[in-house]
Amino acid sequence: MMQPIRTETLNIPSSVDQIEKVDEFVESFATSLGFQADALADIGICVTELVMNAIVHAHKEHAEIPVKIQIEGGEDGLRVSVRDFGPGFETNTIPDPTSPENIYEDHGRGILIVRAMMDDVQCTRLEDGMLIEIFKRLNHSA
Ligand SMILES: Nc1ncnc2c1ncn2[C@@H]1O[C@H](COP(=O)(O)OP(=O)(O)OP(=O)(O)O)[C@@H](O)[C@H]1O
Ligand SMILES: [Mg+2]
Repeated sequence: MMQPIRTETLNIPSSVDQIEKVDEFVESFATSLGFQADALADIGICVTELVMNAIVHAHKEHAEIPVKIQIEGGEDGLRVSVRDFGPGFETNTIPDPTSPENIYEDHGRGILIVRAMMDDVQCTRLEDGMLIEIFKRLNHSA
């Protein structure tokens, strides 16, 4: 049976106290699509990490700047995009957290973790910010 595409948009102020709400929102959406506990946890970790980056790195916690989160569910899985209005960054120039000089750093692993946990990650630098799009496949047989 074909499942219709559903989309939801969540715009939040750039304040770290929004993170729990974002986590609940995305996990409940993903639950309704049929994701199981392991995948739900991965999705929650990744979306909250990207939103945290937008709040802290892009907007420096200026609450009046919104972070726009779009969630799209379909037959094949879940797509989430996180849009910020900060300076943007080049994903190929961030330090490699697995290289010897960085291995004891307790920061700088967020993007790497997102790439490892999701099935596709697209980072687009825009004139006025970043657009990060992730996709998690829904395995119907599991
Ligand atoms: N939305 C963003 N806007 C601007 N710069 C960003 C954004 N997201 C990430 N960055 C830059 O990329 C770097 C790496 O991000 P990443 O999430 O991998 O690590 P971190 O946030 O520094 O640490 P961690 O996520 O492990 O706590 C950040 O330190 C920051 O310089
Ligand atoms: Mg981070």
